[in-house]
Amino acid sequence: MHTTLITGGSGQLGSCLHELAPANTRIIAPNSAAFDLSQPHTLNTLLNTYRPNQIINCGAYTNVDKAETQGGLARRINADAVRALAVYAAKHAIPIIHVSTDFVFDGCKRTPYDPHDKTNPVNAYGASKLAGELAAIEANPKTWVVRASGIYSHHGNNFALKIIELAQQRELLSVVTDQVGSPCYAPNLAAALWKILAVQPPAGIYHFADLGEISRCEFAQAIVDEAAAAGVIKKTIPIEGVLSSHFPSPATRPEYSVLDVSLLKETAGVSVSEWRPALQGMIRRLAAGTHSH
Ligand SMILES: NC(=O)c1ccc[n+]([C@@H]2O[C@H](COP(=O)([O-])OP(=O)(O)OC[C@H]3O[C@@H](n4cnc5c(N)ncnc54)[C@H](OP(=O)(O)O)[C@@H]3O)[C@@H](O)[C@H]2O)c1
Repeated sequence: MHTTLITGGSGQLGSCLHELAPANTRIIAPNSAAFDLSQPHTLNTLLNTYRPNQIINCGAYTNVDKAETQGGLARRINADAVRALAVYAAKHAIPIIHVSTDFVFDGCKRTPYDPHDKTNPVNAYGASKLAGELAAIEANPKTWVVRASGIYSHHGNNFALKIIELAQQRELLSVVTDQVGSPCYAPNLAAALWKILAVQPPAGIYHFADLGEISRCEFAQAIVDEAAAAGVIKKTIPIEGVLSSHFPSPATRPEYSVLDVSLLKETAGVSVSEWRPALQGMIRRLAAGTHSH
């Protein structure tokens, strides 16, 4: 029997990890008040109380725009706390997965990012997440760092749910064309993380996302089309493509951050799905929820 500590258990990924947990796993998922990643010096004592024998760190400071003005807090949560978790894992020789982000890249490439491509974050959130990766690997070279991109699910706070909400209030939406990535349906990522713990591929940096590359604008159109087809919203609406400069925001986003997932597929045998069937899976979950009310 494993005792798995999941940080960020209330978030989108954390919730899906709960739903898909293998039968031989007992989950400990303290909330952010009980296990506060912004207080890294308190974590070792708590870890000694919980005594996990595996750790999945998906707790994070995830507000990309606010991180520009809360860089110190973002670093404590996204880097200093990660170091504390990795130190504990190294000391007790237990497996640890640290979830990171495509935002460690600058987005200047036009072909999928390989795990060993040069990092160069363009915003404070990305810088704090990169610092977390480096801290984890330095403290515990056996860490699996798994970078994901564009996580969405049927619950939580995410782009897909926001688009569905707005589509019910407006006749037209404007969404950016100059941010291209691979969306990642959270249950697919959660299944991949459990598979990593089961298979234990070599430690190091891996990428995971659904397959394909798509702009935010194209993804938004697919979301409203699929939601309308499944009866989640009454009708589809047109999505107008605009440039990011149309929506000034505190943080710059990478223009291109498609992740090459082949290393994880080959070494751990994780399943990867095309982005559209993954989206349809999420819409089916929403439709089931809608119809049951
Ligand atoms: N969302 C994306 O598009 C995306 C893309 C690439 C990578 N990632 C990475 O994927 C991971 C999971 O993301 P997600 O979308 O599931 O995030 P999320 O839904 O925003 O959830 C974040 C989680 O972190 C917890 N948290 C925040 N501050 C904390 C603190 N001080 N102490 C303890 N827990 C704290 C939150 O708890 P409370 O609810 O209590 O605050 C929540 O459970 C993160 O590492 C993120 O950086 C996300």
